[in-house]
Amino acid sequence: MLQIWGKHPLHGQVKISGAKNSALVIMAGALLCTDECRIRNVPSLVDVTRMGEILSALGVKLHRHGDVLDIDARHIGHSQAPYELVSQLRASFFVIGPLLTRLGVARVPLPGGCAIGARPVDLHVRGLQALGADVQIEHGTVHAYLAGGKRRLQGTRIYLDVPSVGATETLMMAATLAEGETIIENAAQEPEVVDLANFCRAMGAKIRGAGTNTIVISGVPSLHSTDYPIIPDRIEAGTFLVAGAITRSELILAPVIPDHLTAVISKLQSVGIEILTEAPNRLRLVPGQHHVAADIKTLPYPGFPTDMQAQFMALLTLSEGNSVITETLFENRLRHVAELNRMGADIRVKGNHAIVRGVPMLSGAPVLATDLRASAALVLAGLAAEGMTTIRGLHHLDRGYENLEGKLQQLGAKLQRVDVEPDATGETPPPPDQPSSLVSQ
Ligand code: UD1
Repeated sequence: MLQIWGKHPLHGQVKISGAKNSALVIMAGALLCTDECRIRNVPSLVDVTRMGEILSALGVKLHRHGDVLDIDARHIGHSQAPYELVSQLRASFFVIGPLLTRLGVARVPLPGGCAIGARPVDLHVRGLQALGADVQIEHGTVHAYLAGGKRRLQGTRIYLDVPSVGATETLMMAATLAEGETIIENAAQEPEVVDLANFCRAMGAKIRGAGTNTIVISGVPSLHSTDYPIIPDRIEAGTFLVAGAITRSELILAPVIPDHLTAVISKLQSVGIEILTEAPNRLRLVPGQHHVAADIKTLPYPGFPTDMQAQFMALLTLSEGNSVITETLFENRLRHVAELNRMGADIRVKGNHAIVRGVPMLSGAPVLATDLRASAALVLAGLAAEGMTTIRGLHHLDRGYENLEGKLQQLGAKLQRVDVEPDATGETPPPPDQPSSLVSQ
């Protein structure tokens, strides 16, 4: 459980970690390599640990020291990913593309739905079939293999019905070792797709167009070792920008790639917050005196990211006027509304729209985190609320934020993680002067 005492201003500089969604897919991408790969700037997250466990279960050797991860996939002992691990981490489905193209066979359990929606994998499957794989789904497992004596997947043209990040990544990885040219149309343009393409290129893959809606991959027979640093996490950066905004605090963030945050920065400016690019990789947030409502619609990149929707909702609860937030990517991604309302927010949901009526203040309350970004939104609301907020369901937060509490504490926030229930008398304990978890995380 996390206890947060709100209304303490933040100040200083925060270090942004490597991107979770790059790290996860690049770890899977290392399976393409018949040599050892080094990945740098890997965040320390539960999801990254789980992905490591999946690779280990496939027979891959991993060695982590600090934020450097060495992956030795010279020998892959198994082509089947274990269900217990895949069911805990959807991103582990990514191993299907590299396993299939490298070994000619892959068996990966269907990851199933998750807290934010059903999240099918039909586009991944159809794309692999277009590349010449036989794919059958039996007893909840996707069996993909090269039949009829074929030794490699065959390059082809694939149109994605929606620009799915995961499907683009799966098919791009599969096509790197295919025979001939693959063209992915209506591809996702997210920075993490570009990061994966750059990682594959650093291993010798021939990929062009990543970051546009058409990616062209010319297959090569094998890939070689590389040493690759992953990009800073734009969602973590966005979350800290909202932390500065919601507490009316001036903050500096580095390293960041400001271009990856264009939609988020533009929306913060509409609310009345100033964002200065102080150096190519450093941003300064200057809060406004007066924050106003803004409408948000989540869209594939370069549109406003669904992974920032919940955090912005927290900010808009305290901005003057009515904001309309429309979630277009995932069908079940407004569950934080009920929790924010427990803290005094005024939000109504109609279908995939949330109508946020700005209120003058939030008040601390016990709340439950329902998914990863929802938990970040509750932390942000807690930082701005009067009194103490307690957040349960922290396993969501640990999946995707590296040391969020420690980073916030260093900026001056008053919060601490506790194992015990709050005081049975119902009285709010005072904020600790020096929370024990501040020391070093
Ligand atoms: C990735 C990110 C996630 C982010 C999302 C959208 C990772 C590990 N996760 O998830 O943080 O919120 O992109 O930016 O990188 N779809 C299908 N069929 C498919 C695949 C997707 O219909 O085969 C639909 C999904 O249900 C969803 C939409 O496409 O409505 C976008 O999903 P997608 O881009 O695939 O998200 P993920 O890759 O799962």
